[in-house]
Amino acid sequence: MSILQTTVNTQATDYLSNLSAYQTRIETLHGHRREACAGGGERARQRHIDRGRLLPRHRVDALLDPGSPFLEIGQLAGLAMHDGVPPGAGLITGIGLVCGRLCMIIANEATVKGGTYFGITCKKHVRAQMIAWENRLPVITLVDSGGAFLPDQAKIFPDDGDFGSIFYNKVRMSAEGIPQIGVIMGPCTAGGAYIPALCDEIVIVRGKGFMYLGGPELTKAATGEDVDRETLGGARMHSAVSGVTDHIAEDDHHALAITREIVRDLRQPALSRRRIEAPLPPRHDPAEILGIVSRDPKIPTDTTEIVARLVDDSRFQSFKHLYGDTLLCGFARINGFEIGILANKGVLFTESALKAAHFINLCCQRDIPLLFLADVTGFMVGRDAEEAGIAKAGAKMITAMASANVPKFTIVTGGDYGAGYQAMCGRPFKPTAMFAWPNAQAAIMGPEQAANTLAMVQRQIRERDGQRWSEAEEEAFKAPIRREYEEFADAYNFASNLWIDAIISPTETRDVLTLLLDCAARVPAKETRFGVFRM
Ligand code: COA
Repeated sequence: MSILQTTVNTQATDYLSNLSAYQTRIETLHGHRREACAGGGERARQRHIDRGRLLPRHRVDALLDPGSPFLEIGQLAGLAMHDGVPPGAGLITGIGLVCGRLCMIIANEATVKGGTYFGITCKKHVRAQMIAWENRLPVITLVDSGGAFLPDQAKIFPDDGDFGSIFYNKVRMSAEGIPQIGVIMGPCTAGGAYIPALCDEIVIVRGKGFMYLGGPELTKAATGEDVDRETLGGARMHSAVSGVTDHIAEDDHHALAITREIVRDLRQPALSRRRIEAPLPPRHDPAEILGIVSRDPKIPTDTTEIVARLVDDSRFQSFKHLYGDTLLCGFARINGFEIGILANKGVLFTESALKAAHFINLCCQRDIPLLFLADVTGFMVGRDAEEAGIAKAGAKMITAMASANVPKFTIVTGGDYGAGYQAMCGRPFKPTAMFAWPNAQAAIMGPEQAANTLAMVQRQIRERDGQRWSEAEEEAFKAPIRREYEEFADAYNFASNLWIDAIISPTETRDVLTLLLDCAARVPAKETRFGVFRM
């Protein structure tokens, strides 16, 4: 292992300009997070409080151990997607400690459209379940939801990954012994009723929690029956008559205390199966990453300087250091957890792709989790590259990465484009978790290249038809494409659509990875069987 050295001058004008640009990005990130944390509008929040209920975020706080971390998944999901809906899609999901045990917490944000589910809310709930499933985390659902947001039916109802998948996943997780605990804290209707109904154990709050497949109004319309909500689906009826619920609580705090007791008495989680060394901070300050990341996406960032600020003691054992040098591969530790890092240092060539495949193979043999730091314009094109077999080398990298059954983490640290996005363990390759830094961008290609490519096709069509195309006309054609590609590539677009799990700042990265590495260390190793490597 060698210590990564730095050549960064923190007094240089360039560094200071980068730093100032990045600080603005961090402020933007915090602004969006504040919006998400606020939940619904002032009136909706006040009405919720006036009804004697804790605000959803206060419920989560009361459930967690004092001082527990809370790693939010999809905090900015649905950002700018639906009118009047703040980022978060009406749901709070995240990993935190309950009675010393890491759990996945899923809480309806009842102050946003009555806690109803949009398509993106379903996607977020399902994503939280998948993370819980992979890491065998007990799932605690604080339910306060009117079920489906009816106008969004097409994105809620029919498909795999929609509302029905929430039910399916709960059943399957329960069958695998992953505890499912439900707390009914408000009116839970239709889909919102099946979520607790499919839990292993249910707590309900007296006078506040209600659960029915159709509420009093729907019942009246359907059957003509007049019934109030307490009689139809209140705590007493479900605990004494229907037997749907298992514990009655007197208020929100009491319900959360009962829930903590349930978690306390669960079978203990498996111990970590990894050898964790004493954690050491990096020798170079992680906060300097903000001044290192280039403010101009066209000027590359030195990845080695970033790795030097992410790993313990800035120690890194570079693998095949002199070969395929557009990809940095090597072993390091993050807060004591061993990890294999792949970080781009330019476009991927045949050699770098082969190096990646070899390195991933090695990590799988040794059961070492992988971290992909993605900042790549793609694979090399051109005659030399084709003759060198870039297609089969890229295929080897993708085969190794897609086959690998060790935990995989992806962080988009810069511009992540085309097949490079895929090969660096993009979302379709199911990384255990995927994040982006606030400066990150990802797309099939850059805005200029997309505008040029489409303009070229257009020009050929016009020339074939004998039409002229002036420069001004061409520019007018290109401008909206450029804009659209820029907007698409933005990290916040990825966060809004849940194509990533969260936007995290560079300085949060070590803590986020540590928590996830700890979760992953407590589940049994999975054997990797590689697909056929094209030689
Ligand atoms: N679909 C679409 N919008 C819904 C909705 C649904 N199922 N349920 C509630 N909303 C909207 C309301 O229109 C209102 O919108 P606004 O903020 O733009 O005014 C907002 O959510 C809050 O609803 P409101 O009734 O004012 O809040 P509340 O806290 O008093 O009651 C519910 C919340 C969920 C109990 C109540 O709205 C309700 O019973 N909804 C219908 C539930 C249902 O039958 N679902 C079946 C789905 S299959």
